[in-house]
Amino acid sequence: MSDVRTYLVLLGVPGAGKGTQAKLLQETLGLPQVSTGDIFRYNLKNATELGVLAKSYMDKGLLVPDEVTIRMVEDRLAQPDCAAGAIMDGFPRTLQQAAAFDALTAPHGGVRLAPLIGLSDEEAVLRISGRRSCRTCGAIYHAVANPPRVEGVCDKDGGELYQRDDDREEVVRNRLFVYYKQTAPLIGYYFAKGLLVELDGAQPISDVFAGLQAALAAHAALPTHS
Ligand code: AP5
Ligand code: MG
Repeated sequence: MSDVRTYLVLLGVPGAGKGTQAKLLQETLGLPQVSTGDIFRYNLKNATELGVLAKSYMDKGLLVPDEVTIRMVEDRLAQPDCAAGAIMDGFPRTLQQAAAFDALTAPHGGVRLAPLIGLSDEEAVLRISGRRSCRTCGAIYHAVANPPRVEGVCDKDGGELYQRDDDREEVVRNRLFVYYKQTAPLIGYYFAKGLLVELDGAQPISDVFAGLQAALAAHAALPTHS
């Protein structure tokens, strides 16, 4: 196969640390983080048609319809910065999305590894309640576990830190419910393909990252072409 790429699929409940780890991996692997949640939020901020549509689902903790999400990911992965692959954060999250992603990536060697960041629901709710995100660059902080140097201000670009609209407790609980109904089956899906690795997401951020790097090395899932 001539155009082999590296596609990693991060799995885990809302708040498990997918975005946090994807950003760290992006820096070390030289592959872009593709976060469908971030793309929807970007569209929302810019009041695009897609953003308005996505908001009606996100505000309730529901998934945006598969057709819309899959088309959006196809467009994103066709961008030049994804030429060597991508770190998928929040996609796929239904079996239909997983099948579409397999078809899309098959010419490039398919999904290389699907790390599952394990975390209890109670811990996930706590983490989400302390999360703050940068309005401009999307950097992720936590009031206790990973605070910025100056409260309310992003270390990276000085942007304003805010709490996501869908991080209200009642929405978070529904996001967890939706996760178990629609996304948890992907654990079995990737296990059956021999691509699942499980990590303990309750460890400190740097330890989860070390585990992730070790898993990538052990499964030969590191990019060979960057
Ligand atoms: P999305 O943005 O993907 O949200 P999510 O999956 O619910 O996940 P989160 O972003 O809440 O958590 P995370 O795992 O990234 O954790 P983080 O690193 O921030 O999706 C939002 C919505 O968009 C969906 O509900 C849906 O409506 C729509 N959508 C998105 N993708 C879709 C798709 N494919 N199909 C359809 N609809 C879609 O960490 C959480 C907090 O914990 C942070 O404060 C962080 O600092 C802290 N933290 C992280 N790791 C640690 C650690 N090890 N120790 C202590 N604290 C930690
Ligand atoms: Mg995230």
